[in-house]
Formats: sequence, structure tokens, C-alpha cells
Amino acid sequence: MSSNKDAITASMIMAMKRRGEKIAALTAYDATFARLEDEAGIDIILVGDSLGMVIQGHADTIPVTIDDVIYHTRACSRGVKRALLVADMPFMSFQASIEQALVNAGRCLKEGGAGAVKLEGGEHIAETVRRLVEVGIPVMGHIGMRPQMVNIYGGYRIQGRKSEQAERIIRDAEAIQEAGAFSIVLEKIPRGLTADITSRLKIPTIGIAAGPDCDGQILVNYDLFGLADQFNFKFVRRYLEMARDVRDAVSKWSEDIRSGGFPNDDESFE
Ligand code: KIV
Repeated sequence: MSSNKDAITASMIMAMKRRGEKIAALTAYDATFARLEDEAGIDIILVGDSLGMVIQGHADTIPVTIDDVIYHTRACSRGVKRALLVADMPFMSFQASIEQALVNAGRCLKEGGAGAVKLEGGEHIAETVRRLVEVGIPVMGHIGMRPQMVNIYGGYRIQGRKSEQAERIIRDAEAIQEAGAFSIVLEKIPRGLTADITSRLKIPTIGIAAGPDCDGQILVNYDLFGLADQFNFKFVRRYLEMARDVRDAVSKWSEDIRSGGFPNDDESFE
């Protein structure tokens, strides 16, 4: 956690909902982007297990390890002064037992410098969440479409369209709040369900592909910056076209080298 007196804490995030202030969240995986996002005033920086896709080039988040998350969290922590830094607990880093969850979440704070951890799951992990909070580890929940369930879902389909699915997601939200989480990510669920959960809960909901009725929003930074342009999700809004700009820059640099245009003739280090 940051020693900065203005640093955002989990309880400050909860207070934002009480004041009706929207929460701005974004992922980061390295010190440079974490620093830029922090300087721009983002409230939460999540070191998402999405790093498996955008950093490591995997097809999904399943191969990501707790050591990967800690490595990237530690890098981000060197760039963050104010935002709450949240480490995402990857697949099978907390599901095997409460002890496993305590050890790995503890490492995210002690070795990674995170101020909180995020866990995907509902009612079935409520006891784990309760124990983490009891020992002093703030927890962000993550329900609805859970990417770590890709092999059960058979893809990344919207969840909660059918009424029994929607009721289960509501029970998940209430169980995670009851267990002591300070906020909860709602991913890829229908807008009406998002609005219902957001009004039932005292803790803030942070949405991704869940419509506008959340207390905050989160996106993968590579999507927001137009860097991961191999993906084209409807719910993403690109604020930059970095992939295009990087390709243009590299192609101009290559041309300049090949034509003798770089470096300048008059440049000399003698
Ligand atoms: O891994 C991730 O980046 C996430 C968010 C986008 C919510 O879980």
C-alpha cells in the first residue's frame, strides 16, 4: 500500500457510493501505464488476470499464475501513488482451500504492494472472502460472467438472462457483500439485472459490459487505448488508436534506417 496520505483506500471506495460519486477503474500491468493512469486521476488500478491475454498472448486467463500477478502488481506499485491498486487472484490460486487463498492474497499485499485483491466467484467463495477480510485483506468480488469459468461456459456468453440464472447472480452479490467485500465487479449481465443489484447493495458495483447503471466502470487498458486491436468488443470505447500509431511509427523508423534518413548526418558523439 502507498504511504501517500492522499492514497485511496477500500473504505474510501465504499464512501464514494454513499456520496453518489462514480468510480473510475482501469487495468494496468506495468509501472509506466500505472503511473500515467494514476497521474490522470483514476480511482482503482486493477492488475487483471487479463494479463494472460494482453501481455502473455494466451487465448484466455487460465494459464496465469499467482507469481505472474505478483510480478506485474509489484511493477505497477512502483508507478502508483494515489489509486487503490488491486491484484486479481488467478484461476486456482484461491479455490483449493481457504488456507491457499490466505497465503496467496497475503503475498499480493506483502510482495506485490497491492491494497486489495479481487476474486471471481459467488456464494461458494463467501467463506473465503470472509476469512480474507477478517485477517485484514480488502476484497473486491467479481460475479456475472466469470472469465475463469470459460471451460464450463464454453465461451464468454452473457450471464443472467434466464430468471433462475439472474436469481443466482443476485444471491452471489448479496453473499459477497455479506462476507465483507468492499466492492464487486459485475461482468456481462443484462442492464436490468445490473440496476437491480446496484440498488440492493450498499457496496459499489463496478461494471464491465454490464450497462450504465453501476456505481463505477472498468475496462482493460489495452482495449481503451486501442492497443489490443485484435479484439473488437462492442462494450469497449477506444480513446486512442495506439496499435495503428505503433505500426505507423515502426514502419517509418524502418524506412528511415533503410533509406539512411536516421540518424541525422550532423549527429556525432565524438
Ligand atoms: O482481468 C481483468 O482485467 C478483469 C477486469 C476487466 C474486470 O477482471
